[in-house]
Amino acid sequence: MTLLPDPIRWDGGKVVIIDQTQLPHSEKFLSSDNYRDVCEWIQSLRIRGAPAIGIAAAYAAALAAFEFASKDEIDDKLDAALTDIHKTRPTAVNIKNVLARLRKLNLQGKNVGEVFLNEAHRILAEEINACEKIGRFGLELVPDKAVILTHCHTGGLATGGYGTALGIIRAANEAGKDIMVIADETRPLLQGARLTAYELQKLRINFKLIVDSASGIAMKKFKVDLVVVGADRIAANGDTANKIGTYNLSILCKEHKIPFYIAAPISSFDISAKSGEDIPIEERSPDEVTHFQSCRSAPENISVYAPAFDVSPADNIAAFVTERGIIRRPFRENIAKMIG
Ligand code: MRU
Repeated sequence: MTLLPDPIRWDGGKVVIIDQTQLPHSEKFLSSDNYRDVCEWIQSLRIRGAPAIGIAAAYAAALAAFEFASKDEIDDKLDAALTDIHKTRPTAVNIKNVLARLRKLNLQGKNVGEVFLNEAHRILAEEINACEKIGRFGLELVPDKAVILTHCHTGGLATGGYGTALGIIRAANEAGKDIMVIADETRPLLQGARLTAYELQKLRINFKLIVDSASGIAMKKFKVDLVVVGADRIAANGDTANKIGTYNLSILCKEHKIPFYIAAPISSFDISAKSGEDIPIEERSPDEVTHFQSCRSAPENISVYAPAFDVSPADNIAAFVTERGIIRRPFRENIAKMIG
């Protein structure tokens, strides 16, 4: 039985998503046949999570190709639309990887919209399959009785379905392991409080919600066995960009001698980035920090720094769980072998 709504699907010439900004209070669906709407959905986090926005980018590209009736090639209008899609969010490499994949397709004598749409369907199916495999490979890292801490939201809605870090948690629960999850609320947009809590509750997985700054005391009090999070971009040396606050967690794990794992599909690796230094970090509107929902919580006219992501150094990471297996040290060599 499916307990969770589909994060994204294609229905009668339109892309349909569940609006993640309205969860958990309202399960509201949005649909459109205009790629500009999909770009807005990505920018405003109505759809979010690295794999999910990669899939959305592929469907947006198909909509653009249908709109411009592009024949046989990526003409100027379609090229400009692909560039707009690319610019929606800079950190998750999935958008860049998906668009590069579409640009390499053989379009000769074909309808570009149809070719892109079929590829988008394939990308969605691959992402779902990758998550299920990540869940299975991750099982060996979870003791039979385990307290697992996670950050942000990496579940079915952030991917094609099933989830990455949350996929491992889900697989451990389905395998009958006795798990308890500690979910960080994830300031400022509360992906943990709104979305991770929503999914864990639907899946009937035992969890506690904490504020981000309680993760240190929670590690001590609940004897956390492992921390597992997702990724927006993993560089060739293993440095990993993920939701702001992940870096802090990686340091806390070092201090508490807790293994810190990254669960991510191959589509989230970027071996053209040599290290975290090469990963662009998205900065979001100061309003997301100065306001709590629509209510202002900070004084007017102040200076704000609002990075959406940070980079956890490879040194702090115990292993990566991918759909092709677990990547252990030495990371540079083993990532190259796995991606190659
Ligand atoms: O800004 P968001 O909500 O898109 O950030 C999402 C994250 O950082 C996730 O942890 C990451 O994309 C992995 S989702 C499987």
